[in-house]
Parts: sequence; structure tokens; C-alpha cells
Amino acid sequence: MKIDLFRGDFVQARTDLLVVGMFEGQKRLQGTAAAVNGALQGALQALIKEQEFKGGRGHTLILHPMGRIPASKVCLIGLGKKKEFTLDRHRRIFSRMVSTARSVNAAQVLCTLFDKTTHHASNEVLSRSATEGILLGGYIFRKYKKKKDQKEVPRKILLFADKAPSATGIRTATIAAEATNFARDLVNEPGNVITPIVLAAEARKLARRGGLTCRIMAEKEIARRGMGAFLGVAQGSTNAPRFIHLTYRPRRGFGGKSIAVVGKGITFDSGGLSLKPAEAMRTMKMDKAGACSVLGVMHALPRLKPNVTVHGIIAAAENMPGGKAQRPDDIVRAMNGKTIEVLNTDAEGRLTLADALTYAVKLKPQRIIDLATLTGACVVALGEYTAGVMGNDKALIDAFLQAADETGERMWPLPFDDNMKQHLKSKVADLKNIGNRWGGAITAGMFLEEFVDKTPWVHVDIAGPAFNEQHWGYNPGGATGVGVRTLLHYITSL
Ligand code: BES
Ligand code: MN
Ligand code: ZN
Repeated sequence: MKIDLFRGDFVQARTDLLVVGMFEGQKRLQGTAAAVNGALQGALQALIKEQEFKGGRGHTLILHPMGRIPASKVCLIGLGKKKEFTLDRHRRIFSRMVSTARSVNAAQVLCTLFDKTTHHASNEVLSRSATEGILLGGYIFRKYKKKKDQKEVPRKILLFADKAPSATGIRTATIAAEATNFARDLVNEPGNVITPIVLAAEARKLARRGGLTCRIMAEKEIARRGMGAFLGVAQGSTNAPRFIHLTYRPRRGFGGKSIAVVGKGITFDSGGLSLKPAEAMRTMKMDKAGACSVLGVMHALPRLKPNVTVHGIIAAAENMPGGKAQRPDDIVRAMNGKTIEVLNTDAEGRLTLADALTYAVKLKPQRIIDLATLTGACVVALGEYTAGVMGNDKALIDAFLQAADETGERMWPLPFDDNMKQHLKSKVADLKNIGNRWGGAITAGMFLEEFVDKTPWVHVDIAGPAFNEQHWGYNPGGATGVGVRTLLHYITSL
């Protein structure tokens, strides 16, 4: 899909589908909708009445102009209640618009931006959210299906606004949405296709294309660096682990701002010897979502060119119960010297992240943010659409949550609690890898805190929103690429 600006007479445009909007309970049509209705001699208003169309959010009405205007079809889309209209609803409307265009086989679409948001958003912000809604909502993973099974998305979508839409807005949003879709593609690939070695190859490919530094380490080097917690998880699989370190450096700005983004990269989580039951094991190809979002971020940086050094770090492994698998009761030594008693091999993410975080700390970045499908408990706490945000630095947490809010990704803070620290104490080692029954997302986060030293750090548990079998908003069923847009927005605003 190509998105572009439209300049000219909206009503007289030659297009497959002309899209206008109407707020719920609105007495009379406004703006472009009123103009189109005028050119159609009131036919749109008449159809609204006949169909009892109320302008409910996402409802659509299709009208055939019968030659009264050059457009082949007109779509009126319901915007919902005006005072409830937000930037994210604007984003969702555009996703809805794409599915409507697909269902009527429109190859080229012309659509206005819908103003009157409660944010009084600028044209740049509106253009950005429209572009994201289109590109994210139009995503389909159909690599393994015959093409003819599905309708095509439109080839070209033109955006119109009274004061011309913003080319910059379209461009930055396109980069962010394509990076998100890149992450989605990787997460949607199953565990038999994306092994740690394949994930590392993807990272190297991306680095070559974008001019990033790329360092991939195999077992020998991983062991030499003392990453015993990471290796313990990896040893049960016949698919060898890889440690991935990508770096984006700005042209200027030597000695300037820096960040490390760390992603959980379990290419498949069977639970290991603490094997998951069949139902819980399904969808565990998504356990690499954090890593894929990190790769998504690294994908976008060479195009966005922020003046920040960004390290992308992934400890990639498969958690399997093979003959060499680590056992419950095993004690491993992490890269920072702390010993960990492994009481449950299914709490593997925190073990791989322990060493990835220690590696990140040694790079001395000003801040670290990790993304991980870490705990089912986080899904219980916040539901399947919201990520949990924790960390050791209030200002960093607030800045990150603010970025999330502005991109429409749902994230919410969870509180660390000193009272819970005792649950991570082991009788025989420095730490154990599980807490008690309660607050599992928080104890997991507090476990990670043991490996970030004093570096300002934020942990994002994306177990809920990383992958949903049903579509929601501008997320089609499957992987969502959550975190990519928030991280990019945060990094570019540093
Ligand atoms: N990858 C899972 C967490 C997960 C669960 C992600 C559901 C997405 C959806 C993680 O490795 C895991 O198995 N966590 C355990 C931790 C427990 C053993 C302390 C869990 O949440 O049950
Ligand atoms: Mn697990
Ligand atoms: Zn896992």
C-alpha cells in the first residue's frame, strides 16, 4: 500500500472509493461529507435516513454515485461520539477503512483526515495516526496460504485535509508501521522456521541493509563470557543458542545520548522439563516477541536517524526438555556472578534476560528498556491488551508511559514491592527463579532488577498484547509487534 497526499478537488476526484465521515448523533453532515452530499444532490443524506445510519463507531454505508461524481463508490464511516473521539480512535477508523476498501475491491482510495479530536491534533499528528491505522490494519500474514484465498488490500491510498496533510507525518508513520509489520512477520513464523540461528541471520541481514554494527556469538563465546543462566535454558534443545548485539550509531553526536533495548528471544517455550500442558504450549512461538520488536526498532533507526546510540540485545534460545535439559533444582551462575536456583524451568525468560541485561549494563548505556513475554500473571493482572511496565527509575517509567500513551499502545505501571523480595530468596543460592503464587509479574520484574546494577531501567511485560488470536483495533489476529512504535517514539524524542 502506498500512502500519499491528495491536492485538488476532493469531490471531483476520480477514485474507486471516496471516504467521508460522520459523528454519532450529528444533525447534519459537515466538511467533505457535506460537500459530497451536495454534489450528489442530497442522495447521501437520503440514504442515511433510509438505512437509519447513526454514525456509530466503525459502522459504514456504501453509496453508488451513478455518475453524479467521478468516484465509483462513496463510503460514509461512523466516527462514534464526537466528545469521545481520540487520536487512537482516529487510527482505528483508518484500519476499518482499509477493511472496507478490501471488501469492495477498491484499488485506489481517497479519504479525508477526521479532525475535531479531543487533542486538537495537528495535521502532522493526524496524518501519522491515519497512516499507522492503514498500514497496521492492512497487515496480513499469508506467506503460507494460496494468494487467491484472500482479497487484496488497496494499492494506493490518498489522504486529504483542509490544510494539506503532512508529508513528514506520513513518512515517519510509514517507517514505524513497516518496522512493526516486520516484527509481526517474524513473530508469526513458527518455531520450526525461526530457530535462534535463523533469528541471528535475520539480525545480520538487517544490519547489513541498514549499516548497523552486528555481533553474533555462539556457545563457546557465550560460555567464555560466563552467561551460565542463558546457557542453562538453551541446553535442552538441539537448536543451538545465539547471542545477538546490534548497534545503531548516529553520524554526529559522539558521546551523546544512549540506550540499550533488550528483547526476550525464546523461539519456542515448551516449558522445558517443567513442561507446559498442551493448551498452554499453543501460541508459544510468540515467546520471541520481545526480540522481534527489538529487531523492528533496529530496522527503523537507519531511516529515522535519531541522534542517539541504540544497542539492540537478544539472548536467543529454545526452551526444550531434551536429554541435556536443565533440571528443576539445578543451580546456575549468571554473568554478574549471582547464583540462581532453578526451581521451575518454565520461568526461563528471566534466566536468559539476566545475562542479556548484565551484558547491556557493561556497555554503560544511559538507560535500558527490556521487552519480554515474561509472565502469564501479567495477563491475569492487566488483561490481554495491556502491557505491564516496571522499573527502578520513576522518571524513566513516566517518560516511557507517556510515549506509549501517545502512540496508542496500551501500557500500565505495576509496583515493585520490597515485601515481596523475600520470595526470591533461595536456601542454597543467591536467588531462586520463581516467587510464590501472588503478583507473579512483579516478582519476575524484581528478579530482573538484580541484573541491571544501578542503570536506569524499564521492564515491559508484553505477555498479554504480543499475540492475540482474535483481531482487535488495528491488530489483525496473531502477532501485534507491540513495543516497536512506543520505543521508536521514545527514542526519537530523547
Ligand atoms: N513465556 C511464558 C509467559 C507467557 C504466558 C507468555 C502466557 C505469554 C502468554 C513464560 O516463560 C512462562 O512460562 N512463565 C511462567 C512463569 C512461572 C513458571 C513462574 C508462567 O507465567 O506461568
Ligand atoms: Mn516459560
Ligand atoms: Zn517463556
